[in-house]
Amino acid sequence: MLIMRVMKRNNSRSHCGVWVLVLLFCLQWFGSARARVSYDDKAFIINGRRRILISGSIHYPRSTPQMWPDLIQKAKDGGLDVIQTYVFWNGHEPSPGQYNFEGRYDLVHFIKLVQQAGLYVHLRIGPYVCAEWNFGGFPVWLKYIPGMEFRTDNEPFKAAMQGFVEKIVNMMKSEKLFEPLGGPIIMNQIENEYGPVEWAIGEPGKRYTQWFSKMALGLNTGVPWIMCKQEDTPYPIIDTCNGFYCENFRPNNPSNPKMFTELWTGWYTEFGGPVHVRSAEDTAFAVARFIQNNGSFFNYYMYHGGTNFDRTAGRFIATSYDYDAPLDEYGLPNEPKYGHLTELHKVIKQAEQALVSSYPTVTWLGKNQEAHVFSSKSGPCALFLSNYDPQYSATITFWNKQYVLPPWSVSILPDCKTLAFNTATVTSRSSEPRMINTGSRFYWQSYTEEVISADQSDTFAANVLWEQVNVTRDSSDYLWYTTDVYIASNEGFLKSGKDPILTVMSAGHALQVFINGKPWGNAYGSLENPRLTYSANVKLNAGNNKISLLSASVGLANVGTHYESWSTGVLGPVTLSGLNEGTRDLKYQKWSYKVGLSGESKNLNTLGGISSVEWVQGLFLAKEQPLTWYQATFDAPGGNEPLALDMSSMGKGRIWVNGEGVGRYWTKNTARGSCSKCGYAGTYTATKCETNCGQPSQTWYHVPRSWLKRSGNVLVVFEEWGGDVTGIRLVSRTRT
Ligand code: GAL
Repeated sequence: MLIMRVMKRNNSRSHCGVWVLVLLFCLQWFGSARARVSYDDKAFIINGRRRILISGSIHYPRSTPQMWPDLIQKAKDGGLDVIQTYVFWNGHEPSPGQYNFEGRYDLVHFIKLVQQAGLYVHLRIGPYVCAEWNFGGFPVWLKYIPGMEFRTDNEPFKAAMQGFVEKIVNMMKSEKLFEPLGGPIIMNQIENEYGPVEWAIGEPGKRYTQWFSKMALGLNTGVPWIMCKQEDTPYPIIDTCNGFYCENFRPNNPSNPKMFTELWTGWYTEFGGPVHVRSAEDTAFAVARFIQNNGSFFNYYMYHGGTNFDRTAGRFIATSYDYDAPLDEYGLPNEPKYGHLTELHKVIKQAEQALVSSYPTVTWLGKNQEAHVFSSKSGPCALFLSNYDPQYSATITFWNKQYVLPPWSVSILPDCKTLAFNTATVTSRSSEPRMINTGSRFYWQSYTEEVISADQSDTFAANVLWEQVNVTRDSSDYLWYTTDVYIASNEGFLKSGKDPILTVMSAGHALQVFINGKPWGNAYGSLENPRLTYSANVKLNAGNNKISLLSASVGLANVGTHYESWSTGVLGPVTLSGLNEGTRDLKYQKWSYKVGLSGESKNLNTLGGISSVEWVQGLFLAKEQPLTWYQATFDAPGGNEPLALDMSSMGKGRIWVNGEGVGRYWTKNTARGSCSKCGYAGTYTATKCETNCGQPSQTWYHVPRSWLKRSGNVLVVFEEWGGDVTGIRLVSRTRT
């Protein structure tokens, strides 16, 4: 009408043309901006259709862009509708205002690939992500902005968080990636599991929740926002559940759909811990229980776990983030889990109409047995028969038909008549992972670093022990603490031979001690207790002695209330006991510091820096020597199976291939845990099914094929403690 009136007033053709264009623009704008994604208490509604959405987490920086199409295709073949990912702030903004959206951090490319495959995206912008990722996804520089306090009603934090969230939302808008603009993103997430933190810190936490909810909603993305594990989510943000099971979860608003944002398909591995597995049966059981109780969206965390390349792992988290996910670290189907869940998804899809059109009617058939019927006047009907008994199967009769239900299982009849699936009846074949030696040869050369001492020119000094990350700003895992100790010639121990005891207390995570340049020993903490104490007799001479401590961080904490305030490094006490004076406190004497290794400052891990030192080989090759860099060139093996390095002959350190960071390795830290036999039935917990006890937590380290050329590839290893480099093997991964 507006246009008509205007046209009457202006008769000229050109004006008319302009207004037609304006009209078209308006139509397109209104059309595209109308909410095409909405929800009710039954389901997400996309383009008018209620959907039961099946989702899986694939974190883009945990694989390579070359792997993405295949992973996404396998997710699609596995019956997924949605790919869920966090957005990793510290990967995207390594220093303030300097952004990285390239390579593994090419978020837009990743989302477009998902779209091309015909799948949707759940974008968890956070920007706190937890995720066993370094510093929970926050850039380390953020901590050093004056007045900063993370995840609370704190102005510097809120300003920085808003800046990053807006940056991502604007990028998604300009790339037209939100669903109303024609893109695949159908939902967002703000924050992550903030409920427990809010509960711990009280009022400022509540104010922060109000603030970030308003901030997120104000960004007008056109698609719903969710918040996980937070009961006081303000309308219209949807609160969701994370866990091993979520069937008893009730959204805080009865008109919200019931969502399971993290269904843990296994668990992460920590260095020093076992490898956790979760059976296909119990994973399927968790899904079926959720769906039969009116669940409408579930997401496998993780569907593909992948790899914590380089230094992206959180504190004490292993480089492998396999997670026992349906697609293994290398992108291969982890059978029978992948196949079993694929079958389950087909049956859920068959039942979808019934599920979204009615509420379940529950009939108790026995102490641990239930029938859930979804049926509506319009016709579709779906039946779930469940047996929660962890030991016994049950024979039940329902609607005059008899069914045998295996222990701890749900049977699904997607049309109420035909038994199509039972969660404990696995028909998919299992596949055992194999690592096969490729026979690739490495011609090793080595370069051993000098132990740093206090009188070196490239150190700086203070009469205090400094917190490590404050000094390194996480530019390196390593910080040297060195000091001189004077021993008078009348010290009793020089005659008695009873060596004094050096005790070093550190906030973590690993420590190597050198006395007068000689390796003396090491100590390390764990994820549960990162602190460590080193205590041993040390050989000191009359006169000046050099104590050099190499403190190594193993990722930064990613979870815990105000984890940004947690310390790393040698904070003391540091004492020397058994002297004439008794115990000498070394904490307040002069300490000299050096950030990082000299090989790091010489860029030995890069192709450009590698020739800056003299390497030795053959008889001179360093073996079982700490602080040693190794390099070798090798040819890529034929075939296209994924590749890994078997590091079992080594101790602790880092790996690079053609300058790309493979990650931290730590083979001399064997897995504690209880690896008793474990069945699928009964409530699963992270410690229920552990494997690998007494072996290295991680032996194989993924080398993506796309990092390799046919020949002349450069492998660089930095070994912290000492190992046999000639034992390293390049293996290929298959599953039989
Ligand atoms: C959740 C968290 C995830 C991840 C998971 C454990 O609580 O939201 O980011 O850390 O635990 O793998």
